Amino acid sequence: MHTNIVTCTAPVNIAVIKYWGKKDEKLHIPLNSSLSASLDQKDLKTTTSVVAGTDFTEDELWLNGKKENVESKRIQNVLRLIREGSTVEWKDDPNYKLRIVSTNNFPTAAGLASSASGYCCLVYALAQLYGCRSDLSAIARLGSGSACRSMYGGWVAWEMGRDHESSVAVQVADEKHWPEVQILVCVVSDVQKHTSSSDGMQQSVRTSKLLADRAENIVPKRMEEMKQAILTRDFHTFADLTMKDSDSFHACCADTQPPIYYMNNVSHHIVSLVQSYNKKVGSNKVAYTYDAGPNAVLYIADEKHMVEMLKLLHIYFNPSEGVQRERPFFDNEYLLAKMSTLDEQSLVDGLQVEKRPDALKYILHTKPGPGPQISQDHLISL
Ligand code: DP6
Repeated sequence: MHTNIVTCTAPVNIAVIKYWGKKDEKLHIPLNSSLSASLDQKDLKTTTSVVAGTDFTEDELWLNGKKENVESKRIQNVLRLIREGSTVEWKDDPNYKLRIVSTNNFPTAAGLASSASGYCCLVYALAQLYGCRSDLSAIARLGSGSACRSMYGGWVAWEMGRDHESSVAVQVADEKHWPEVQILVCVVSDVQKHTSSSDGMQQSVRTSKLLADRAENIVPKRMEEMKQAILTRDFHTFADLTMKDSDSFHACCADTQPPIYYMNNVSHHIVSLVQSYNKKVGSNKVAYTYDAGPNAVLYIADEKHMVEMLKLLHIYFNPSEGVQRERPFFDNEYLLAKMSTLDEQSLVDGLQVEKRPDALKYILHTKPGPGPQISQDHLISL
């Protein structure tokens, strides 16, 4: 005997005010509040199917075709809270074992934190299966801190709170609020292994005075200014705060003992390109932000500036002809056609940026999108 199969999808999110550091390691209560956009699931999403049955011999978790350990603390904490909030009769029946199958539609090599969409999707799917009525963002937070923000679409704040109940995500504005904004994920050619977020933030909490100052004196005001900039659709201020916050997070990493460097030369190069472009056009039309790796995520004000920025990325990081690639450098036909109408010389005039062919692997184009969804495309067949 088994339950119905439940399948859900959930978005990746990219923070514009970063979460870095926990006050409570067990409950994942952060040092400061943070804010992100959930990305369109057409481009980037996790899909998870779950089913419980008396004919399975053990709980099983499959991620991208690989069997993973269900006994991990994070998974077990999530399961415990889902069961606590559950309304189904079989919730504590040991004869019911779980089968969980999850995949991402984006390459793992893209270096995007798949744990956020992954844990969010897992919690959302399990909550449907178990009829769980608790705040799902708080449960997803126990999987991975940033996962709580994927529980909603559009622009989402994670209010740090004081305890499990108050450390939750809230939607600031939905995905339709600011339709002009678009996003580029620039995947840097890089094979280096980086310190994981959880290890990195632990080291920073222990050793960086700058991080304590950031959490206490910088982020609270910045959160309010960021919400205001989003609600009033003030891109110049939004971009200013986004870039400052990314810089502040990476400064805290550099202030950690031993120092942690997530950005590399190519990342810094993209920062210069964005800075000189904004200067040339007279206000911030592009904002960069970097997580725990070298890839740049660019928030862009509108289509005109998106097309110009794409063209510049092609000019400065132009892929060499004849090089074998795992996927096309950039494959949005509509935007490629728009780019081809731009004059290269007038675009680069006045920009002081050096060319770095092949420094980028590929570019993904997306925009803010909705929160988790229920789907009928099951990954499990019984
Ligand atoms: C740099 O949410 O992956 O992406 O809570 O330990 O699972 P854990 O960490 P995680 O950290 C994300 C850090 C970040 C910034 C952000 O997304 O806010």
